[in-house]
Amino acid sequence: MKFTKRTFMKSLLAVSVLGFAGLSSLPAYSNTEDPLKLGFLVKQPEEPWFQTEWTFADKAAADLGNVQIIKIAVPDGEKTLNAIDNLAANGAKGFVICTPDPKLGPAIMAKARSYKMKVITVDDQFLNAAGEPMTQVPLIMMAAEEIGQRQGQELYKEMLNRKWDVKETAVLAITADELDTARRRTEGSISALIASGFPEKQIYKSPTKSNDIPGALDAANSMLVQHPEVKNWLIVGMNDNTVLGGVRATEGQGFKATNVVGIGINGTDAVNELSKPNPTGFLGSLLPSPDVHGYRSVELLYKWVKDDVEPEKFIAIGDPVFLKRENFKEELAKKGL
Ligand code: GLA
Repeated sequence: MKFTKRTFMKSLLAVSVLGFAGLSSLPAYSNTEDPLKLGFLVKQPEEPWFQTEWTFADKAAADLGNVQIIKIAVPDGEKTLNAIDNLAANGAKGFVICTPDPKLGPAIMAKARSYKMKVITVDDQFLNAAGEPMTQVPLIMMAAEEIGQRQGQELYKEMLNRKWDVKETAVLAITADELDTARRRTEGSISALIASGFPEKQIYKSPTKSNDIPGALDAANSMLVQHPEVKNWLIVGMNDNTVLGGVRATEGQGFKATNVVGIGINGTDAVNELSKPNPTGFLGSLLPSPDVHGYRSVELLYKWVKDDVEPEKFIAIGDPVFLKRENFKEELAKKGL
């Protein structure tokens, strides 16, 4: 091969992509054909949720054979667009993405189109310039409203179990309404609480500035101080970290675990909390199927690229499992997590 400046640049890019994608093990192919390369880009690689999607993306690739998944962390817009350039330089034919910001949708699609790459979204849906969902881009996500409703029902059930006086109880709902899946989960939860009979006027919403524990902790703290009259708190939030932030805030303000119930969503991100020797206010978590999100999305992308089979535009994955301290190890193992 003639060693031109271009090939040198290409190999540099390849090395840098493989480097930050954390690809320690390249698949061992017995055949000599180049592997089909597909990207898997996620906004928050520190969340076990996304690590699980990556793991199952690799499983799908192994089952399909001669497919290589290039995994890249995309915490912001700039990194996302750079990642797409890097994928193209590496010859990737498409990618699965959970975007750091739904409003990047048009920019991501324009770039992907310029490289003739296929795109499948997971978890978070793209929005167009008018703020409407980009329903033409295939999406695999959890059944957000249904899982939220389950959260509300389980919170109400636990309030009854504990024989709390509803007059002394309030709901702290930590919201992230800019993210549609988050809004649908918390709205689902709140509507299920109201439908069960919880008084609407005792439901307090506090928006979080960031979708992580510190952001949720701040949002919760500012609401807790406004309601010194409340003895017991039920905590609603869009995922485990949000609810964990809420629980940490109640602890910081002197509430005992017996006066707090939080139920997360994701499951994968609740393992440390549920492993603690003493119960906290975090009762458990609803585990949907990050394994299915990771596996299915790669399988669909592969068929699209390879056989031109267009995926369905929308796949919602429901039926969460309620993980608690007593069953979480067993339930996670059942799913191979
Ligand atoms: C969003 C959240 C993640 C996870 C996924 C699952 O992206 O930020 O924590 O809940 O949805 O769909």
